[in-house]
Amino acid sequence: MSMTQSISVRKLHPALGAEITGVDMRRAMDAATFKAVHDAWMEHLVLVFPGQHISDEEHVAFTRYFGDPEIFHQAILKSTRVKEIFRLANVAEDGALMPPAHKDLKQIALAQMWHTDSSYKPRPCVGALLHGLEVSRTGGQTRFTNMYRVWEELPESLKRQARGRKARHDFGNLARLADIRKPTAEEEAAMPPVWQPMVRTHPVTGRESLYISPIYNDMIEGMADADAVRLVADLTDFASQDRFVYSHWWTTDDVVMWDNRCTMHQVTPHDPTERRVMHRTTIEGVDLVLPA
Ligand SMILES: [Fe+2]
Repeated sequence: MSMTQSISVRKLHPALGAEITGVDMRRAMDAATFKAVHDAWMEHLVLVFPGQHISDEEHVAFTRYFGDPEIFHQAILKSTRVKEIFRLANVAEDGALMPPAHKDLKQIALAQMWHTDSSYKPRPCVGALLHGLEVSRTGGQTRFTNMYRVWEELPESLKRQARGRKARHDFGNLARLADIRKPTAEEEAAMPPVWQPMVRTHPVTGRESLYISPIYNDMIEGMADADAVRLVADLTDFASQDRFVYSHWWTTDDVVMWDNRCTMHQVTPHDPTERRVMHRTTIEGVDLVLPA
């Protein structure tokens, strides 16, 4: 039976982020609770749910309130038991700590650069929910930036270069940034590069935001490649100012849920000999309303 859960919302940073208490993800949510959570999500962009002692199956079931869970297109980095779980971990499924030079860890480490998840898909994901199972004490903070505010406050000289343009998002760019496992021919065929508008209108809030994903962006239409990379770097520098950024220090069994349509995120480095196990679900994309 689902009952209305009485939730409370505490703001974590002036730009974005709120802590939600009173929700137990193991229980079914009724329509009123779902609406309260969804409204808070749209207002605060990043929600932190402390103390969620959930299994992977419960994590996936909670995700389904918000959409279909995405299944990662590569054979690596996902749970062999629950295919909707994407593993950001330096610990293999058998519990063994992985050597820092492992190619999977180099791929995971690229998340230290600002990005928004699965922007390389024709319909990028809506958002994601990350569960901290073994959290880092030496780093491993997740930092989020509010891309509505970034777009609003962007200097006109930069706005002019982004407005009306599309940027290319290529999953294959990861293998150009670091010495990681090359995507197989099959994985490459499944994920050809896509062009996304650099300014998008959020389908729920109707607000415009800047949409870039620096780890995947390699080209911008109407620009030489070097100029494109420089523009993405300038936009990223602007977006990473403290006034736009909430940094989350993890506690075990936090679940952090973010909107990938209007935020970017990055993880801070941590001691590679310290165990870190984070499980993510990703909410599959739906058709977007593009700016007129
Ligand atoms: Fe990410």
